Amino acid sequence: MPNDARHAEGPAADGVAAASAFDRLGGEPALRPIIEDFVAQMVDDAMIGFHFAGVDRQQLAQREYEMSAALLGADVVYRGRPIRDVHASRPIFGGQFMRRRELLRLALVRGGAPDDVVAMLLAHVDRLRPLVTQEAGSSCLGGADVGPLLVSVPGRSAATAAEDPAA
Ligand code: HEM
Repeated sequence: MPNDARHAEGPAADGVAAASAFDRLGGEPALRPIIEDFVAQMVDDAMIGFHFAGVDRQQLAQREYEMSAALLGADVVYRGRPIRDVHASRPIFGGQFMRRRELLRLALVRGGAPDDVVAMLLAHVDRLRPLVTQEAGSSCLGGADVGPLLVSVPGRSAATAAEDPAA
């Protein structure tokens, strides 16, 4: 199957076309249920499920499938909106981003995805992070981004206490 779009990694050293990550995963019969599982977990999740209230779950699963399949080398086109535009209207915390990432990882592991395929998809998620959330940390409260916790101690200003907790 030379130069097939699904074999975008090019021919292997022995002249045989290398299987795409999509093929090694098991193709559509393997990826579809993984994405269904991932989306089901996401929309029901106690931490991030509320974001998906009113969202068409079937359509979301289709778009997520397209994105992952294309990334893994399948002859599939992502037909969704640009990732920045999709998420621009909702503030997403770093911890929520990491929660989605973990739900994806767990669904891939449950679905028997090879380690390198899991790594490819998670690396893709990490590259897209700046388009989804501006938060650098993984906390839902802003974490290190908001600086040290301010404590109120009678007789001392909060700023002093934060700078020198031992003072
Ligand atoms: C790199 C990380 C992410 C990727 C690759 C991603 C990918 C996608 C894709 C492909 C869609 C469908 C777009 C469409 O229908 O045109 C979507 C929609 C959505 N995503 Fe994400 N997403 C990410 C992170 C997140 C996070 C962290 C949250 C919230 C915790 C989130 C919440 C949503 C919601 C609520 C929708 C539906 C928007 C709507 O239909 O109005 N996403 N995402």
